[in-house]
Amino acid sequence: MRTGRKFTAVAAGIAVATLALAACSGNDGDSSGGGDTGDAAQAEVFTWWADGSEKAGLDALVTVFNQQFPDTEFVNGAIAGGAGSAAKELLQTRLQSNNPPDTFQAHAGAELTDYIKAGQVQDVSNLYDEFGLRDSFPKDLVDRLTVNGKIYSVPSNIHRANVVWANPEVLKGAGLDPAATYATLDDWFAAMDAVKENTGLTPLSIATTWTQINLLETVLLSDLGADAYTGLWNGKTDWQGPEVTKALTDFGRAISYTNEDRDGLEWPDATQQIIDGTAAFNVMGDWAAAAFDGAGKQAPTDYVYFPVPGTDGVFDFLADSFTLPVNAPHPAGAKNWLSTIGSLEGQVAFNKAKGSIPARTDANPADFSAYQQTAITSFGQDTIVSSLAHGAAAPGAWVSAISDATVNFTTGVSDLETFQTELVDAWLANVG
Ligand code: GAL
Repeated sequence: MRTGRKFTAVAAGIAVATLALAACSGNDGDSSGGGDTGDAAQAEVFTWWADGSEKAGLDALVTVFNQQFPDTEFVNGAIAGGAGSAAKELLQTRLQSNNPPDTFQAHAGAELTDYIKAGQVQDVSNLYDEFGLRDSFPKDLVDRLTVNGKIYSVPSNIHRANVVWANPEVLKGAGLDPAATYATLDDWFAAMDAVKENTGLTPLSIATTWTQINLLETVLLSDLGADAYTGLWNGKTDWQGPEVTKALTDFGRAISYTNEDRDGLEWPDATQQIIDGTAAFNVMGDWAAAAFDGAGKQAPTDYVYFPVPGTDGVFDFLADSFTLPVNAPHPAGAKNWLSTIGSLEGQVAFNKAKGSIPARTDANPADFSAYQQTAITSFGQDTIVSSLAHGAAAPGAWVSAISDATVNFTTGVSDLETFQTELVDAWLANVG
């Protein structure tokens, strides 16, 4: 049984703006339903878990679903592209043309709030009562799925985004101790210098834009600390300040150690470089754990992991959660899917394969890998902050603006000063 954990102050500014907007629009998704009526013959499930270890996680869930609901056909609506990079846009097109799937994956926090504000998802609070889920999840997590007292989705898992994965043989080849962790970014950069000089391999593997945002958020977290990092999203931390300048400088330095073909790669390619021993370190959420498992690799022989230097004791959080869209064609099928998502059996099967930890608090840690057991412990005792790249910290429009600014910087279109200016503009447009 996992016990309480503490989220740092939620993004109060965003929450207030969100509630105000929801009130003004007169449409906060209160179309009721909760899947009580309609066709249970099928459920089209829209995710971005299309390939590799992510598909293996989805498959494990579908196996449980088929056992629990043999009369509801699972229809796979997965669209490839890590972190929903392609799926989210297509989903928006479908939602806006009133052609929703029966259920879709969304991130707890600001991203989900976007869908709620737009009136695109239904209140499923009644399902929490029907399935007995009220006490199954951490209260703080349910708060991030709730607007105006209504709960709009069922969470399937919790991922940690601030993890470094490393290849011990490459580290040894560089003259480094594979068991070492690094207290500061500077210590870690010194290790990357050793990799570069002594092996000629890539010190830090990375991939397309969202993975660079994942790296950026962890560097901001490392340099600012949990409270000031959270302050970036609730208006309390000044994006123009010297602390942010220092973090962006460190981000630029981190990028200088990465593979130059990064923009053409997806996350499994970057993690594969650690598996293959062509790179030393990779910053990636713990879906990477499933990729190592899938490749038959064992820690600490084949790979090692530790929190991004300077972020020990902080859990950079995200959670996938499943919705009931307004006008879902098979609400009863969707309801069955949500039942499996919320069930202990579904959560155990899915998370064992996915690298994440169950959102439910009653899973037995002993059923999970050594890495996952560290994540379960950390989630129970660390300070929790919200991931930027994975929809927990900021609304979609803000994430897009940060992504554009970051691409300009990492592709050399903008310098550090312009990068910070563009980030300040994004901040003022979204919170100020
Ligand atoms: C995250 C998602 C994870 C994982 C990852 C890589 O946004 O929450 O479940 O799929 O993207 O695609």
